[in-house]
Amino acid sequence: MCKPWQFVLLGASATCYPTPVTITTSILYPSGTPHLGHALELVQADVLARYQRGLGASVYFQTGLDEHGLKIARKAEEQGLRPRDYVAQQLQLFTALVEGLAVSADRFIRTSADQDHAQMVEAFWNACLASGDLEQRTYAAWYDVKQEEFLGLVADHPDAVVFGLPSEQIERIEETNWFFRASRYEQQVVRALESGELKVYPDHRAKELLQFVREKGLQDVSISRSRERLSWGLPVPGDDTQVLYVWFDALINYLSGTASVGGGRIVVSERWPATLHIVGKDIARFHGLLWPAMLLSAGLPLPKALMVHGHVRSGGVAMSKSLGTGVDPLAFTQQYGSDGVRWFLTSAIPTLDDGDFTAERFHEVYVSECANGLGNLAHRVVSMTKRYVGGVVPQPPSSGHAERAVTLEHLSGYTAAMGAYRLDTAAERIMSLVRFANQRIDEYQPWVMAKDEHRTEELHGFLYELLEIVRIVGVMAAPFVPSYGLRVAEAFPGVLGEDRQGSAALRWGVLEAGMPLGEVGVTFGRVEL
Ligand code: MSP
Repeated sequence: MCKPWQFVLLGASATCYPTPVTITTSILYPSGTPHLGHALELVQADVLARYQRGLGASVYFQTGLDEHGLKIARKAEEQGLRPRDYVAQQLQLFTALVEGLAVSADRFIRTSADQDHAQMVEAFWNACLASGDLEQRTYAAWYDVKQEEFLGLVADHPDAVVFGLPSEQIERIEETNWFFRASRYEQQVVRALESGELKVYPDHRAKELLQFVREKGLQDVSISRSRERLSWGLPVPGDDTQVLYVWFDALINYLSGTASVGGGRIVVSERWPATLHIVGKDIARFHGLLWPAMLLSAGLPLPKALMVHGHVRSGGVAMSKSLGTGVDPLAFTQQYGSDGVRWFLTSAIPTLDDGDFTAERFHEVYVSECANGLGNLAHRVVSMTKRYVGGVVPQPPSSGHAERAVTLEHLSGYTAAMGAYRLDTAAERIMSLVRFANQRIDEYQPWVMAKDEHRTEELHGFLYELLEIVRIVGVMAAPFVPSYGLRVAEAFPGVLGEDRQGSAALRWGVLEAGMPLGEVGVTFGRVEL
């Protein structure tokens, strides 16, 4: 049977073969301590990568650091370090976050350290040059140092006040640089967005991108800086007076792990085009407009989809270290475990919209959904089965009860949500199933059934159904809370390893009467606020 992601039409006949899935996060600026926004993006990508792996897809998942640019150079200078040493120092913080969140990336790219990336950037530059899309121009423009973004020409905006940014964030740049002629690709990029060839989630972000192009056009961009002013960057091939603009360098990271350079040319592997780039709303334009134009210029296929998440605020205000509203995600993983943080970020923060974090709300969700919801259901059902049936899977009921139908309905909602990258909706389906099972236990009271020998068959049938729900909840939740998924899987040692998380496990009736039950290890331990 073809699985959905393997269903590829070849000519007139339908043929199955595995289509690799490539998922990326943006590469993070290591210019400060990692924050909850970084954690959100890493976790979202990891949940989708784990989900796809669970379905049996061959997944390539890439993340990393964006280590060049003015902002990093300035931070290094502030600390009296060379940029190279500064980013090496910052690296520790970011790898600790990746580990602390149990992010299962296949590759962690570092733009200032990885040779294959430098080679890819050079080949990419040459491909754009060969297309006639790179040329030198002299100009004066306003530059946003924080976002590493050109705001507009001084000729068009004589006063930078119009940008409404703090004056220390804006710099006037006047030099001769290399320009990328993005405007030549405006129509093609618009068509890709309109047709869904490059699909943007949520829809309204695609509309925003198209609206932006309608109003401002796809402008040519400066893609180099004079080495005299900024030496921290990759060299411009054939021009040692210039280094590359950090965004041109950074976007190419997506190819560094999915293509190779042979004879100076870029050869994409089966990992490209990317299935999904996951980015925040502030950098949607770079990914939805500039990146496709760059790829078109280099003659390479466009990514299939872009998922744009919102921003996490803290108590309603933007997170900022200087305002004391920054949240250290690593501290929370140490206190609550990676599963606790992963669950909050995916279930309580809307996947494609802004969300809010406070320590109180986080604790509340941890207690009610993780500990009292997911954790309690698994422990409760397994221990009742041990007590009343002697620790093996009992006989299923002779006729189906509501449990099966309700579970299948939740499973289909979950699968649809995961396919639409709505992690919040999928997590809500999991919690709703957990609540349903807990309610049924309270309603049917297996402890009362156990006292009545005429009700043994009924008790066994009911516990069988509850065990199936626990097992399926474990499989559904595993991409979100992998340690919990593992603990639940360990309670069913008779179920084959590959069925624990695969699509075969996402169906009713995998358990067979007589299978021994294992222990559910500790899930979501007690934490004081
Ligand atoms: N280095 C660039 C990306 C280059 S990709 C070729 C960059 N780095 S960043 O560190 O500033 O941001 C990394 C990601 O974190 C972005 O997707 C950004 O939107 C996201 N977030 C930054 N602050 C955030 C929140 N407060 N909440 C959620 N995500 C946030 O941009």
